[in-house]
Amino acid sequence: MTFFAHFHWLWLGFLVVISLHASDAQWIDYPSEGIATLTHYTLPRGYVASCGCTPETTDYPTAALSQMAYGSSQSFGPACGKCFRLTLSNPLVSTPPFIPDTTPSVVVKITDLCPLSQDGWCSGTEQRTNSAGAQLNFDLAYPSIAIPDDFFPSNEALYGYKDFGVWNITYSVVPCLQTWNGRGNQKALGSVNALGPSGCCPADPSSPADTCPSFSDQNGIPPDTRVAAAMSLLTNSPSTPLLALILGSIYLSL
Ligand SMILES: *[C@@H]1O[C@H](CO)[C@@H](O)[C@H](O)[C@H]1NC(C)=O
Repeated sequence: MTFFAHFHWLWLGFLVVISLHASDAQWIDYPSEGIATLTHYTLPRGYVASCGCTPETTDYPTAALSQMAYGSSQSFGPACGKCFRLTLSNPLVSTPPFIPDTTPSVVVKITDLCPLSQDGWCSGTEQRTNSAGAQLNFDLAYPSIAIPDDFFPSNEALYGYKDFGVWNITYSVVPCLQTWNGRGNQKALGSVNALGPSGCCPADPSSPADTCPSFSDQNGIPPDTRVAAAMSLLTNSPSTPLLALILGSIYLSL
């Protein structure tokens, strides 16, 4: 009797530990290449989205990433600033099936969050895919001055419309500094002083040290994401870290 009573508590304790663990490890640990779905959304030019990148990022291709891959529920996620090459496969919904002549690709920088939903395209979790069988959904800022208007293949004569809405795609993680169209623009890369603690847009997140912590989930202050060249210009102003700390704590106490 007592053995079973104890056993019960142990079991309960075990379950609590397991579930705490599960809620910790809920972000999708996605491979560096795979399949995904692609939707598009309207992002006004110059708009500063969830990652707090600069207005200049919108002059180049950007996208939002589904929440459980983005890595935060409310603010900066580890995906902020990352670049992905997205290559179209085919539209999900088209009758008859549409086989595109070309499968164009675009390199995007992640600047925004696509919120987790029950059954939308951004509903993928570590355990569950969206209705197209993908864990990840990219929401492309489009139309955009950065992407040609005829980027998505279409056949208006046959279907009566141009926009298929959702596409099956493949993705791969790529280095921003070599492949993203905004690579020559420090501001667009997010590698500027002015971002301070209110933004986290690494020029090219590569290691945990220059990856955005999940601001809301870990209450961390974003790392200094400026590239080395920009950093050296600032070594003369010792008040910068202090100011960042003060601004950061004001932000946190709000
Ligand atoms: C989209 O991709 C999924 C997963 O690879 C596949 O099962 C599905 O058949 C594809 N949809 C279309 C319309 O090709």
